[in-house]
Amino acid sequence: MATIATLSSSPSVPSRTDAVLDHVTKRLISHGHTVTPIVLRDLPAEPLLRGQADHPAIAAAAAVLEAADAVVVTTPVYKAAYSGLLKVFLDLLPQYALKGKTVLPLATGGTPAHVLVIDYALRPVLTSLGAGAIGQGWFVLSSHIHLYDGGGVLLDQAASVPLYQVTEAFLATVEGEQVIESGPVQLAAVEAIRVRPEDPEAAPLLSDLVVEYSSRYGRINENTQLTEVPASDFHVESGGAFVLLRYGGQTVAGGAIRRYDDETAEVKRMWTSHLHRRQGLGRRVLAELEAAAADLGYRRLYLTTGPRQPEAAGLYLAAGFEPQFDTSVDPESIGPLPFTKEIPVALKVAS
Ligand SMILES: Cc1cc2nc3c(=O)[nH]c(=O)nc-3n(C[C@H](O)[C@H](O)[C@H](O)COP(=O)(O)O)c2cc1C
Repeated sequence: MATIATLSSSPSVPSRTDAVLDHVTKRLISHGHTVTPIVLRDLPAEPLLRGQADHPAIAAAAAVLEAADAVVVTTPVYKAAYSGLLKVFLDLLPQYALKGKTVLPLATGGTPAHVLVIDYALRPVLTSLGAGAIGQGWFVLSSHIHLYDGGGVLLDQAASVPLYQVTEAFLATVEGEQVIESGPVQLAAVEAIRVRPEDPEAAPLLSDLVVEYSSRYGRINENTQLTEVPASDFHVESGGAFVLLRYGGQTVAGGAIRRYDDETAEVKRMWTSHLHRRQGLGRRVLAELEAAAADLGYRRLYLTTGPRQPEAAGLYLAAGFEPQFDTSVDPESIGPLPFTKEIPVALKVAS
């Protein structure tokens, strides 16, 4: 496993750039890597501005960088370039401080006019510091980053999908693996399988949900860690089912049901890979779960989704679920949003 340093270079608190970095950091940790943050605004200002590279705090930050195998460099766009805070720190580093290191550059900015800032401003200075492989990086528009009071960040799909791709490419370089390419899925070639949550094919779904939930809700608790119900609830012998969609040897989507009451199955663990969203895979998972519920003798489906999952609520409405809450009210003021769906009789007879 690798040691990855992250550079946070916005002077602001809260920082949208830090929120993006926090999201990416959770994904790096979920791959088993050790992540060590360097928060530049927390370094003492005077030694930074006076070029005192031998100050203990500056030297310690430089040592973290030196010890890292890879670095995530983040910056807000200020005046069409990277932040001054980042520049004063980089100026204190030895000439080839990034020698041989894999680097992922990320930026946030207020206008698409500066979408190329990584390439025209940041990449040259990273190259000058000797960086080994500099990843593609990504510029996230600040209007695509939604921060919540008390923590948590929701990224619009326009940001979360490319961010996932560049992070996966960075991880593949760090881990010496092949990058998994995204692209349209041939729905006819997608296979649905019923597994147990402990099976290795379910691991991508479970680890990605932990990243997404802990990032969106800004906390680590039994709900974001998926320990709120035992995995055995999804075993067939407990009245549950765990369905995965597989395509090209990969798990691309999935979901599960558990017994809610004698007549009702609760849908949990709904997930579609970031590489394959908006292609109907979520609808297919729901159809497979409905069939599994019918097989187990249930008459209806019930689920709750969190207020920070607008794409999930849209999917359930499109799949014929009835909201059991006032849809005109701000979801944040409600909390968990309940939906139900009666299982059509034909499906039950067919089973
Ligand atoms: C002093 C200043 C200068 C900025 N200049 C630019 C700019 O030139 N181009 C741009 O796209 N955004 C610019 N922005 C907007 C920030 O890049 C954007 O809001 C960013 O997401 C802030 O990140 P932070 O919350 O981590 O500080 C500027 C913001 C500030 C405060």
